[in-house]
Order: sequence, then structure tokens, then C-alpha cells
Amino acid sequence: MENPFSYGTVVRGDDFYDRKDETQRLVSTLESGNNVVLYAPRRYGKTSLVFKVMAELESKNCLCIYFDLLSVYSLESFAKSFLLKIKEKQSKTERFVKTISSYIKSIKPKLTFDENGSPEFGVDFLEDEVSVQTISDLLDLPEKMAENGQKVIVIFDEFQEIAKFGKYGLEGLLRSKIQQQRTAYMFLGSKTHLLTKMFADKKRPFYNSAFIMQIGPLPLADTTEFLQRKFAQFGIIISEECCAYLVQRTSNIPYYIQLLAAEVWQAVIVEKKTVTTQIIDECCIRVINLKRDYYFELFDKHSEGQKNLLVALCKSGKNIFSLDYIKTNRLKAISSVQKSVKTLMDNGVVDNKADLYFISDPFFKLYIEQQL
Ligand SMILES: Nc1ncnc2c1ncn2[C@@H]1O[C@H](COP(=O)(O)OP(=O)(O)OP(=O)(O)O)[C@@H](O)[C@H]1O
Ligand SMILES: [Mg+2]
Repeated sequence: MENPFSYGTVVRGDDFYDRKDETQRLVSTLESGNNVVLYAPRRYGKTSLVFKVMAELESKNCLCIYFDLLSVYSLESFAKSFLLKIKEKQSKTERFVKTISSYIKSIKPKLTFDENGSPEFGVDFLEDEVSVQTISDLLDLPEKMAENGQKVIVIFDEFQEIAKFGKYGLEGLLRSKIQQQRTAYMFLGSKTHLLTKMFADKKRPFYNSAFIMQIGPLPLADTTEFLQRKFAQFGIIISEECCAYLVQRTSNIPYYIQLLAAEVWQAVIVEKKTVTTQIIDECCIRVINLKRDYYFELFDKHSEGQKNLLVALCKSGKNIFSLDYIKTNRLKAISSVQKSVKTLMDNGVVDNKADLYFISDPFFKLYIEQQL
């Protein structure tokens, strides 16, 4: 029997719930040619939402290119991956090859045929090192591939990673593309503080270049409906109260809701038991136990000041720079809290929503609480 809950991958169709308003808003903004920045803490469902938005835009004949910057580490890997992403959306390989040949001098496309006679696409880079000019030409390629007035939308996921290319000035290059092209761009990311700086700092190239949108958690009523529906498919009952309890244990973060629900499903499926808060607690402990070594190291590698702050964040994440907070939690000076928060956020251990700070992984939080 297959577990009905999935986490860690993009969720689609029946596994994706809510986000209707956000979807419509994004579709209409991008369709009308405007740029969007979408940010949310880690594992809130940004990528899944964007795949839904892309499906709608594609049903309206838009050409959508999705590009994740996380795994890109050099100009050459940027060029290769970007090309492949454009290629994925082409039904006419020969036209694609011709377009590259006529517009990009530094790339030689290759077309070979496999044993079934189907064309296979590949490229040779003619420069010793891929140049910024090549990236610039590639960024113009989606518009060149658009047919019959098709609208083009290019989506950069984990956009804060563009900082890796600081020395090449890719931020400035992209900004100039945004100004010259008709393409609508969407930028996604989870390092909220980095993205905010990028788009709201007057000195940065992207200042004021996009409509900024944030997504929050999924509404409790929708999560309850989703959990009850999924469990009911297996004849398992979960009350509204238990749904609320499960959501609370996962700090209402979509990924962890599904992770814990998957664990609960495992625990009850054989005997078809009704879900109780006690079962949910047992499952939380099982999740923590599975990751105990990892959590131990994750906690251990931080400095004393950072550890103290993590402990304090388990209790509250409000007004963390106030004297009162520092005194109550026996922390050092404001400056050291600021430094600790920055490191913890850069490492992805802590996240924030406006002025509320929290430990990104609710099970890591539960682990720390266990140690107190
Ligand atoms: N609308 C949704 N409906 C159901 N589950 C969701 C939804 N959004 C997110 N999830 C859950 O959260 C998980 C992570 O989603 P996704 O990868 O889209 O988030 P993300 O914000 O892009 O994460 P990351 O910060 O790791 O890139 C999914 O695998 C799924 O379990
Ligand atoms: Mg993502």
C-alpha cells in the first residue's frame, strides 16, 4: 500500500491543496508581463506553487522556462543547464539548433540521430571558458524561441544563489535583460533576508524591478480537509482536533505536515486505528530518533552564543533584539544576538517571517526541547 502523503518533491494534482488566490495572482501578473519575486521560508511550497502556475500559463500558450540556480556552480554549468531547460520545451529540435547557430557564436549545437532515427541534441562550447557574453546571449534565447507571439516567462528558483556569480556581474546583466526584453521574470527564494536586500536596496541592480509577494502557511481548515480526506481513503479517522494538533507540532510548515502525516499513516495503517494525539506524539519522537545523530551534530557545531539563542528561540522568537529578551534568556549583547541570528539564518537553521524568528525544522526544535 502506498503512503498517501508525499514530501520533499514538488506536489501536484490531488496532492496539492489551497493556494488558489496566490495561483491566480501570479498567473495574471506574469501573463501581463510583470516581474515577480516570491519568497517564503524553506519548505513552504514555493516550487510546487510555481509548477502549478506554470501549468496554467502553459495552458494559455505561454512559454515557461524553469531554472533552479541551486545546483549551478560555474558559468559553464549555468549555460548547459539553462540550454537544457529551454530545450525541454521545444518540440522542434531542428529549429532549436538553427536558432542557436544563428544567434550564439560561442556554442556549437550538435544534432545526432539515435538508432530509431530520433534526433538527439548536444552542444560544444567553443570558448576555453564560457564568457558572460555567452550567458547574455543565452538569456535572449527564450524570446527567440517563442512562436506566434507567445509570451515568455522565465523562472529562477533559489535566486539568492545568483550571489555565487558576484564577480561576473550577473545581477546587473539580468537587470538589463529585464529592461530590454518582453519576457516576464519570476524570482523565487527562501533566504528571505538576502532576497529582500536584493530587491529592496536602492543600491542593488534589482531595486524596484519586480512585484514582491510572500506566501504564508496553508490555512488550517484546508489542511484539516486534506488530512481527513487522505486518511479516509484508507478507512482511518482523524478528528479536527488531531489535525490541529499535528499542524501545531509541525509549526504549520507544509513539508513537515506531510512528513508527520506520512509517519502517522505508517503507525495506524495496519490496525486501522483512529488517530490520537498520543499516536502523533509517538510519531514525533520516532522522527526525532531517526535524525538524532544529525541533530546532535547540527546543535553541537554552533558556538555557545548561537546555542543559547537556539534554546531561547524554542521559547519565543518575538522581539529577540530587545533588552528584555536578552535578559530573560541570559544572552549577551544585542550585537552578539544579531551576529548569531545572521549565522544561523545563513546556514538555514533559523528563518524569519517579518520580525518573528523561528527554528526552520520543527523536529530540530523538538529535539532541542528534549535536551533541556
Ligand atoms: N500546496 C500544497 N499542498 C500540499 N502539500 C504542500 C503544498 N505546498 C507544499 N507542500 C508540501 O511541502 C513540500 C515542499 O514543497 P516545495 O518543495 O514546493 O517547497 P519549497 O518552498 O520550494 O521548498 P524549499 O525551500 O526546500 O525549496 C512538498 O513536498 C509537500 O509535502
Ligand atoms: Mg523549492
